[in-house]
Amino acid sequence: MEWTRELRCKPYADWGAKTLLDLQAQAASSDYKLGYHIMPTSGLLNDPNGFSYYNGYWHVFYQSYPFGPVHGLKSWNHMRSKDLVHWENLGLGLNPDFEYDKNGAYSGSALQIGDKLFIMYNGNSRDENWVRHPYQLGAWMDENNRIEKLPEPLITQPDHVTEHFRDPQIIKHKDEYYAIIGAQDATQKDGRISIYRSKDLLKNFEDLGYLHFTDENMGYMIECPSLVFINDKPVLIFCPQGMDKNICPYDNIYPNNYVIGDSVNLDAGRFEASDKTVKNLDEGFDVYASQAFNAPDGKAYLISWTGLPEIEYPTDKENWAHCLSQVKELSLTDKGELIQRPVKTMADLRYDGLPLTQEQGMDHIQNLVSDTGSQYELKLTLDANQKGILHLEKNGSNNQSLKLVFDTEEGSLTLDRGNSGKVFATEFGTKRTTLVAKNAPIELDVFVDNSICEIFINGGKKTMTARFFPEKGQKSIAIESQSDVKYRGTFWKMQSI
Ligand code: FRU
Repeated sequence: MEWTRELRCKPYADWGAKTLLDLQAQAASSDYKLGYHIMPTSGLLNDPNGFSYYNGYWHVFYQSYPFGPVHGLKSWNHMRSKDLVHWENLGLGLNPDFEYDKNGAYSGSALQIGDKLFIMYNGNSRDENWVRHPYQLGAWMDENNRIEKLPEPLITQPDHVTEHFRDPQIIKHKDEYYAIIGAQDATQKDGRISIYRSKDLLKNFEDLGYLHFTDENMGYMIECPSLVFINDKPVLIFCPQGMDKNICPYDNIYPNNYVIGDSVNLDAGRFEASDKTVKNLDEGFDVYASQAFNAPDGKAYLISWTGLPEIEYPTDKENWAHCLSQVKELSLTDKGELIQRPVKTMADLRYDGLPLTQEQGMDHIQNLVSDTGSQYELKLTLDANQKGILHLEKNGSNNQSLKLVFDTEEGSLTLDRGNSGKVFATEFGTKRTTLVAKNAPIELDVFVDNSICEIFINGGKKTMTARFFPEKGQKSIAIESQSDVKYRGTFWKMQSI
């Protein structure tokens, strides 16, 4: 079927229940469906939205197009959880159903204000000449999860930005409400983050100009800005499109980056940082549009879209696409480095733990676990000064696996999905490398869930995420090396949520 503009814009009600049920059945019977990650019940999922805590639940919505694996007319789909691991699907949350969001209820955020959840999002609206008019819109959700939209936009497009003005994050900072919004400057045509302030409880928003957080050029657009505080330090997460690779090397079509500041003055548009280095949030293939927020207890949590725009994925053929990452808790080391860790409750999914050790010489290639099932966690420490390949999801003939090539002498890890099953996105390379401490052990915490692999390295100092699409027989974990490899760890199977 050809995804014409008309088809992508077709109102949800005109599709018919049967079509939706067929699409849902197709996604539910996929070999690649996820067991303990949020995936769409049908169609396409992209950005996490409205990640928040309200009324005794964690909430996350996702950008959804339920009728196919394309970026059609977007809505918000609502998920909630008691523990950040088990998620309940509450279905359609925000519908693109009025003038200001008629071409899509685009990304945004949520924050408890009073006894309701305030939602701020981007209404994508196009006129008869297909010119986009971006509106920053508001809505209130009550404790019965009923959402009521505000009838008028909170913010309309100011003259100094182009039509690329979206993804508002609403935050309370120093007793004031601020919105930070991804933007493209109208004159320079470069990527910016706009700041707005509301002094009268969200009635009027005042344009404070841009947030100055780097001296570098951030490409032609910044999507999905997300500001969180960790031990009072501001951490700014964002997606620059078209950023020069010399500023921060990346191989993905668009990177997802962060900078850590010492302080932020939103009224003055200043993000003060002694080290303004722009870093990659993830060193793998598929993390984008990440959203972080500070929970009422002050902790910072992160969740990401594990997929990228403008790339075909193998499940497109099954009419569904993408998933969300697991939730990660953010912290800073004493030296100020960002740490991303699985939330503690993730361990509740473990069963059938199997200790793993190897302290002697080994064969060229040796299985650690011969039948992993398709959902597991593997914690493994590799001793210093060793080289080899950790095969995740290897087949019986040793010619297909997701490979993690390690060198604990040089301190390098390369994730290679080139021969891990169905190939895709090869134009962006099939390997990603990250560097860690030399001559030191490497601690890995690897999560595999059917068609996603999330790797936490050295207690979360780095992460590497990859979608991959294994063939049926790929069921073992093995280490391959020319010499002895010493390791110890534990393998667990993981329950579905
Ligand atoms: C990022 C993004 C956002 C936009 C949304 C639309 O992936 O392009 O900027 O709000 O997706 O689905």
